[in-house]
Amino acid sequence: MSINVAQKTMILGIETSCDETAAAVVENGTIIRSNAVASQIDIHRRFGGVVPEVASRHHVDQITLVCEEAIKESGVTWDDLDAIAVTEGPGLIGALLVGVNSAKAISFAHHIPLVPVHHITGHIYANRFVHELQFPLIALVVSGGHTELVYMKEHGSYHVVGTTRDDAAGEAFDKVARTLGLPYPGGPEIDRLAREGKPVIDFPRAWLEEGSLDFSFSGLKSAVINYIHNEEQRGNTVSKVDTASSFQASVCEVLVKKTIMAAERYSAKQLLVAGGVSANHEIREQMIRAAEKKGIQLLIPPLKLCTDNAAMIAASGTIGFLKGMRADLSLNGSANLSIEDF
Ligand code: KG4
Ligand code: ZN
Repeated sequence: MSINVAQKTMILGIETSCDETAAAVVENGTIIRSNAVASQIDIHRRFGGVVPEVASRHHVDQITLVCEEAIKESGVTWDDLDAIAVTEGPGLIGALLVGVNSAKAISFAHHIPLVPVHHITGHIYANRFVHELQFPLIALVVSGGHTELVYMKEHGSYHVVGTTRDDAAGEAFDKVARTLGLPYPGGPEIDRLAREGKPVIDFPRAWLEEGSLDFSFSGLKSAVINYIHNEEQRGNTVSKVDTASSFQASVCEVLVKKTIMAAERYSAKQLLVAGGVSANHEIREQMIRAAEKKGIQLLIPPLKLCTDNAAMIAASGTIGFLKGMRADLSLNGSANLSIEDF
């Protein structure tokens, strides 16, 4: 279905799928008028990970303030909005429900259409703030809950061509970090330590069957955890920086090679990287080098737009709005929503 992406729009995005309460106003799908994020990272850090019940309660506390802040900063009024785009899923169900119900309340009170958004499409559309998308494209989405290669032949069309068979890349980062005694979230900590170390430990790379675009990180995660425990049992001091660097090198090599393989197989004009793990320096650098070598245009959002935010939800919601996607007041959160239905 072809849509007119040049159409003028003003969309409020709302995101509460995990541990960030976020609201943002985006104009024409590409201009961020405001982007308010209340992070709960400090609250969950003492538990070593996100506690769903705690996340829901904090979303309830924050959502009204964050929405008001987004509207105030944007300089628009409720009447200026064409739609409210809200993350329907996937994510923590209790957390999703806070965003969905707030969006429904605003939609009802101000008579503004409601557009449901798949969280991963939001991560992909964060790239539209960098450059206009060109199709066909391949997007690598790497976050705490996802590792997916998505093929897009046009705006708002998503086909998963590769996915993880077990853990998400971010999950592996967080678990390895935890075993190394690093605070939550572990990804940025590993990234920081890895820069001081060398990839001297030979951890496995899961290539799977010849030509497979799927991923697997649980074997690597176990290999790193076993290595740390074995060294400790032998009374050896584990080099945190070298372990972090070697683990990161393994994740990075597999992600980059499979992404390039997908881009070639699907004759992609652009390669997009998205999700929290795309904040990783090594992954960014290797991806830039590999894309340059192959002559494929690479887009990666700025660090602030890599992790969960509502501007990306509004950007994807803009496409949903132009495609005529609407939800009514029966909209519910959906923890395991499929991207292919969008
Ligand atoms: O997209 P995101 O904010 O939330 C989800 O939708 O999951 O991604 C969070 C994930 C966490 O696993 C975190 O450890 C990881 O992204 N992450 C990183 C980095 N920054 C965040 N992983 C590796 N290197 C980083 N610099
Ligand atoms: Zn996310």
